Amino acid sequence: MLDPCTILIFGSTGNLVSRKLLPALGHIEAAARLHPDTRIVGFGRRPWSDAQWRDQVRQTLSAGSARALDEAVLARLLERMYFVEGDIEESGAYTRLAERLREAAFMPQNLMTYLAVAPRHYGGIVQQLAAQGLSAEDGHWSRLVVEKPFGFDLESAGILDRQIHRSYTEKQIFRIDHYLGKSTVQNILVFRFANLLLEPLWNRNYIDHVQISHSEAGGIGERAGFYDGVGALRDMIQSHLLQMLTLVAMEPPACLDAEALRDEKVKVLRSIRPIPREAVHAQAFRAQYGPGRAGEAPVGGYRDEPGVGHNSTTETYAALKLYVDNWRWRNVPFYLRTGKRLARTNSLIAIRFKHPPQQLFQHTAIEQLEPNWLLLNIQPNECMRFEIQVKQPGLEMRTQTERLDASRCIVPAEHIDAYEALILDVIEGDHTHFLRYDEVDWAWQVVDPVIKLWATERDYIHSYPAGSWGPPEANRLFDREDQDWRKGLDD
Ligand code: BG6
Repeated sequence: MLDPCTILIFGSTGNLVSRKLLPALGHIEAAARLHPDTRIVGFGRRPWSDAQWRDQVRQTLSAGSARALDEAVLARLLERMYFVEGDIEESGAYTRLAERLREAAFMPQNLMTYLAVAPRHYGGIVQQLAAQGLSAEDGHWSRLVVEKPFGFDLESAGILDRQIHRSYTEKQIFRIDHYLGKSTVQNILVFRFANLLLEPLWNRNYIDHVQISHSEAGGIGERAGFYDGVGALRDMIQSHLLQMLTLVAMEPPACLDAEALRDEKVKVLRSIRPIPREAVHAQAFRAQYGPGRAGEAPVGGYRDEPGVGHNSTTETYAALKLYVDNWRWRNVPFYLRTGKRLARTNSLIAIRFKHPPQQLFQHTAIEQLEPNWLLLNIQPNECMRFEIQVKQPGLEMRTQTERLDASRCIVPAEHIDAYEALILDVIEGDHTHFLRYDEVDWAWQVVDPVIKLWATERDYIHSYPAGSWGPPEANRLFDREDQDWRKGLDD
């Protein structure tokens, strides 16, 4: 059984909490993983009593959760919930918070503080918590969970890290990247290091290029407050996509403990060839969705979304070409792209192999030999597929692509969401699936030249119709004409 603890949530009425954290807590409750004494405290500006907060949580969980909770589970979860009203910028609020946490004998001393607020608030909150003694560990633990993006650029991330370290030790800090909690993402390591047959092929001699692509059909919805000015490069590429790149590219770690794993990931990030300012346009591309369609329905563009300025140039689509300059990967391009309001929601790692060196079939009816692809689909289907060429039945020498499907293409009913796994990891004090600061720092170093140049070019941004696959101009990133984006498993 896990330690009893108090889970304190900042930003409790925000999008992340309602979409991810509350459902995750609900499912952990359903799996009976929380200690019976564990309590959950929401902190926010609304003048809510505990009962009102519980009503809100009930509504949220009944409306949004993919896996409905049964009434007994929901009742157990709600009984754990309390609310403290307060403004995160007002110091008196933290005094009231600390009193509430301490006065109630039933609140466990172990404290998990979850910052689900905009990054600009992290520093202030941490300082206030420390002033109230809530960061101290005295016979109990106090852990801080920080959401991404960690900082706004390289410099601000450094400042933020120093600020947090004034009150929390590294052991207390859990920098979250929820992609590391996804089972398909964790599967990359198993797939690579538990199967000998891949290792000889997993390098520059056999791999033509790697694509890591995350597309979303949805727009930014109500998230302008967070998203505008942040954009796709910071929101997805600096964190989730670069993390996936490290797992695809890393060397086998000495063992599976958190430090060994993170050491190897850092080595990859450090080996990424820096993008010189004059190469930013050749290696990075950004765009913003304009009006278009979502399925059958017409939808407005990004600038029509509530809270977005009429001349915002925040990118909702970003693509990057990177090279990992080490023995294994030198000169193999890694293409990363992400976008909102694209044609479909899908996350895919696609690895394209080179053509065989000998043109054995050149005098046959085969006009063009398709390359082998290895496809690791992260979501919505967890799927692993290998595309190989076989001879078509019949007299002529023609080929066709066959798909070896090594997947459980149907998401299992008891599917564990990333946030569930990560919350349990924090309670157990396991850092394996969280970021060490040097990872964050090196990831910022990769994207910083792009951020800096884009920040100076604020008067124009390419646009693409909502519901499309993004602007064709993004293809200028490809090294050769025969390279193109994979959109999903089948196209
Ligand atoms: C979040 C981003 O970190 O990840 C969102 O802030 C994005 O913009 C989301 O939609 C994607 O996560 P998932 O788990 O739905 O793929």
